[in-house]
Amino acid sequence: MAHQWRGVIREYAERLPVTEATTVITLGEGGTPLVHAQKLSELTGSQVYLKVEGMNPTGSFKDRGMTMAMTAAVEAGAKAVVCASTGNTSASAAAYATAAGLKCAVLVPEGKISMGKLSQAIAHGATLLQVDGNFDNCLDIARKLGDSYPVFLVNSVNPARIQGQKTGAFEVVDALGDAPDIHVLPVGNAGNISAYWKGYKEYSAPYESATAGTLAAVSTKTPAMWGFQAAGAAPFVAGHPITEPDTIATAIRIGNPASWDTAIAARDESGGLIEAVTDEEILDAHRWLSSKEGVFVEPGSAAGVAGLIKKHAAGEVPTGKTIVITVTGHGLKDPQWALRTADGSEVQPVKVPNDVVTVATELGLDAR
Ligand code: F0G
Repeated sequence: MAHQWRGVIREYAERLPVTEATTVITLGEGGTPLVHAQKLSELTGSQVYLKVEGMNPTGSFKDRGMTMAMTAAVEAGAKAVVCASTGNTSASAAAYATAAGLKCAVLVPEGKISMGKLSQAIAHGATLLQVDGNFDNCLDIARKLGDSYPVFLVNSVNPARIQGQKTGAFEVVDALGDAPDIHVLPVGNAGNISAYWKGYKEYSAPYESATAGTLAAVSTKTPAMWGFQAAGAAPFVAGHPITEPDTIATAIRIGNPASWDTAIAARDESGGLIEAVTDEEILDAHRWLSSKEGVFVEPGSAAGVAGLIKKHAAGEVPTGKTIVITVTGHGLKDPQWALRTADGSEVQPVKVPNDVVTVATELGLDAR
């Protein structure tokens, strides 16, 4: 019989802080494709896979955490939720708040979020405020609202978010049969690298489930976590917060990551690294994914691929390994970048008259 994926909470209930009685708020998130990246595999001599998180209901990995956060909000009797966002969290919060019947307020940095994400938050009826400041300023206000006003904070400083997002690691192991050798992903506020590491650690050891007793280890190992930041917004590389973060990859334009300590722990415990890639390297990787692999992502999502290509060029990617890269959000979130060529010029579609012979000529086709 056909099986319908039930969303990450029901699929992984025994490994999440929920019970039979929990009212689950879900839009069917998770169960995303793990795509074999043929050209990246040929380039590196390792087997490279893409965890395509743009296939989630609102087009990014945020939905994995949001199902948990909104479920927790309902459980806590909240009437309204709030978040700060570079765009994807706000899109996800707005959609899941709608599903939960809650009010939603989102704080975004003015002029620094993509049209796709802005329109999602509006479409789902969130109250959207553009703050005269960056993401870090927005998060500061959102935390204060959560502390002192009757609104429930759904940013990844809420541990429910990390619990939900750790299911990305479970899915990778379930698909491959074991953990990969290296897991690569973009780093912004650093919730996701923390969440994946938590998931990989839990799957590699016996697990005390609240509902299902002791669960056996699923994987035999854990991967090295390789995180990549945009060079203009790379606090982990600098070793301190950046007050004026800047990058075209607005999703990861973050100078003071909330999950600082857990990201450092993920890097160090896993024997991994967090390094920087330039905006041009990000855009090159963005083009690589769309033109060579058939996978369309937003620029911030390409930072991990940019990092792998950069490390390969430096001779620092081992061959014969299994490497998974999380590509975090859909290309349609911020499609304008696809219309820009490598030399920075705008792509202009060719206009033709309504005539088959001219169209055939334009396509370089001779009549049969
Ligand atoms: N990729 C995308 C597409 C994102 O939207 C984000 C974060 C990240 C990567 C980085 O993940 O913060 O867990 O290290 N976006 C947040 C937002 C900040 O508001 O949507 P992280």
